[in-house]
Amino acid sequence: MLIQGYPDPGEGLRLHLNENTGGCSPRVIEAIRRLKPTDISTYPSYPSLVLTIAKYFDVDPEWVLLTNGLDEGILMAAIGHISKARIHDAETIVPTPAFDPYPNSTAAAGATSVRVPANPDLSFPTDAVIEAITPRTRMIFLNTPNNPTGQLISIRDLCRISEAAGDAIVLIDEAYIEFGGESFLPQLSRYPNVLVGRTFSKAYGLAGMRVGIVIGQPPALQPVRDVTLPFNINVIALYAVEAALEDTEFLPRYAAQVNESRDMLYAACRRLGLEYWESAANYVLVRVGETAPFMRALSARRIHVRDRSKDPSTPGCVRITAGMVEHTTAAIEALESVVATRQAR
Ligand SMILES: Cc1ncc(COP(=O)(O)O)c(C=O)c1O
Repeated sequence: MLIQGYPDPGEGLRLHLNENTGGCSPRVIEAIRRLKPTDISTYPSYPSLVLTIAKYFDVDPEWVLLTNGLDEGILMAAIGHISKARIHDAETIVPTPAFDPYPNSTAAAGATSVRVPANPDLSFPTDAVIEAITPRTRMIFLNTPNNPTGQLISIRDLCRISEAAGDAIVLIDEAYIEFGGESFLPQLSRYPNVLVGRTFSKAYGLAGMRVGIVIGQPPALQPVRDVTLPFNINVIALYAVEAALEDTEFLPRYAAQVNESRDMLYAACRRLGLEYWESAANYVLVRVGETAPFMRALSARRIHVRDRSKDPSTPGCVRITAGMVEHTTAAIEALESVVATRQAR
């Protein structure tokens, strides 16, 4: 039954949405327990967390906009920059395979997305993206590491595209940057047309809290701020993020688990003869062939992964979250038994 939101696969190990499989920092739970009744009865106040985040990411506080998950940041960026431009044939550029909210937010803002497929080896098509830029282009969505391929876009290529973008806004989605690659943030002062998106959902383990950040200079950020609702983050989430940032050991510990899990998944794919792509993120894209029976067989073993076969660039592929090593071990056991059953037929 689908009432609201993303379909729930039910009981089992959730390796389908790239969540943190180890849960959040215990400090987050402690901070939530300390909430007072008047914290809940009053509207949230954002300056304290904005200042903390600006210091943490070493950017001007005026460049920071908290959003209800980066999902909301993507939608508000599209609405702020596309609807306000009031041109009837506005376009966005969406390199594919891509995270669904880019084309969806483009459509919600009344524009058309121009898809630029990845290179055959799934590396990023920098020249093709630059060639696709026209006077109609209002936004360019770049995602590094890419969901679902795990491939990176080099800083040099991000700079080239941002320079070629002209009046268009470049949104660099760094949802998974804590797991690999280099952030664009140190370059941001040179690019008034660039927004960087970050999230607390993945590495920090706060997906249920829904907190993202859009960071950019005022010319890029103000139109997004203008359309964002004033109380978009709830007070519990504010406390949760403050506490998560205080736990400085949490992130490196989890990143080490992800690193080991990725290596385990690569090794398993090699043993099983499955094609895979080395990933800079907390998931690995694997080509399994016909995905539907494969996903059903894994689900029957209570392991849930994401079918990515619909995208023309990734036929026959599933995406598997690489989280805590104990969870990856369970996933690999199930993977091996599904492949063995398939071969026995
Ligand atoms: C590439 C990418 N960007 C943004 C998000 C959104 O993250 P959230 O809305 O949970 O902050 C996700 C979540 O899966 C993602 O994969």
